Amino acid sequence: MIERQPLLDSFRRLYKGEARLFAAPGRVNLIGEHTDYNDGFVFPMAIDRETVVAGTRREDRRVRVHSLNFNESVEFDLDEEGKGLRGIWLDYVEGTARELVKRGANLRGADLVIASNVPVGAGLSSSAALEVSTGYALLSLSEAEIEAKTLALAAQAAEHNYVGTKCGIMDQFIAVMGERDHALLIDCRSLETTQVPLDTSETVIVIADTRVKHELASSEYNKRRAECERGVEILEEWLPGIRALRDVSVEDFEKYEEHLPEPVRRRCRHVVTENARALSAAEALRRGDMEEMGRLMYLSHRSLSKDYEVSCKELDLMVEIASRVQGVKGARMTGGGFGGCTVNLVARASLDEFQRTVASEYKLQTTLEPFIYVVEASDGAREIA
Ligand code: GLA
Repeated sequence: MIERQPLLDSFRRLYKGEARLFAAPGRVNLIGEHTDYNDGFVFPMAIDRETVVAGTRREDRRVRVHSLNFNESVEFDLDEEGKGLRGIWLDYVEGTARELVKRGANLRGADLVIASNVPVGAGLSSSAALEVSTGYALLSLSEAEIEAKTLALAAQAAEHNYVGTKCGIMDQFIAVMGERDHALLIDCRSLETTQVPLDTSETVIVIADTRVKHELASSEYNKRRAECERGVEILEEWLPGIRALRDVSVEDFEKYEEHLPEPVRRRCRHVVTENARALSAAEALRRGDMEEMGRLMYLSHRSLSKDYEVSCKELDLMVEIASRVQGVKGARMTGGGFGGCTVNLVARASLDEFQRTVASEYKLQTTLEPFIYVVEASDGAREIA
């Protein structure tokens, strides 16, 4: 948890006065990977790692922001022309603010101090936590009413237009809508959501960080998107009316896959089967069937590694080691891939053994020291006392 007092003390030192506090969480995706930008299904949960913002409103339209993590103060003026794509953390904050204004939010200026304990570059959505926490703070301080979905969409647009990553909607959505003790099934086409209770009395969600940084903005992410779009273009000839891979069933895919060139065929196979797995996983969790949930997670990892090719040797190794520990029901890479974390479904009674075995074997084979920690399903963006 981020300590509230040092944050408020820094605020007082920098800007004087009493601040209000707002927070938004990072997330871990349980299953449904690289499906969001194919209009498909994702099943993430918000985690108890968060970005906290202390803020007060200003009477003008200047936004001053200090990051405790970067020990840096920056500012922008909502009345001046926006800048973006500078490759700095302010792009996320300024981008979200400007996208909110574009969507009709009547924002005022504000003084903000930010602190975060969401690891950066680990596939746990530190960027969505930054966008959504500051967006939520600016909206609340300005008393601007806006739908929760609009905040998520504005934050996603900030990634597209100010950061340069053509990400889907998952990360921003869960950062806004997360609910304690629940995972969230999101239909990324209709944006309908279903909260599914997550009972962790016997089985816990464990994150294992490979310590290999992912490079999401790297061309690979946008390349996968393009390959999926190509797949839809070709399949349309046999399946008229499809708009995205979401519209292709596993049966139809198997009927027509021979018309797809490689690697497009394998990319599409991942997305089509992953959509089905995400829906089945939500059902399994609703029934409390952790064995089935875990089985689907292993299948998801294999598909991401072999068909979608967004894993890496460290992620594969981490999953492989985990799978040999008794009491582990499932493991897979989570997030964009190419590094970052795995998510593991582990019997509470096996937690110590999991930590011991995964840490020592992984270190032995890679010389890297992994971070391993249990996460709790947490609330999305909110004001905190
Ligand atoms: C990143 C993106 C998400 C999603 C995942 C892969 O986290 O920001 O929109 O596409 O990768 O599932």
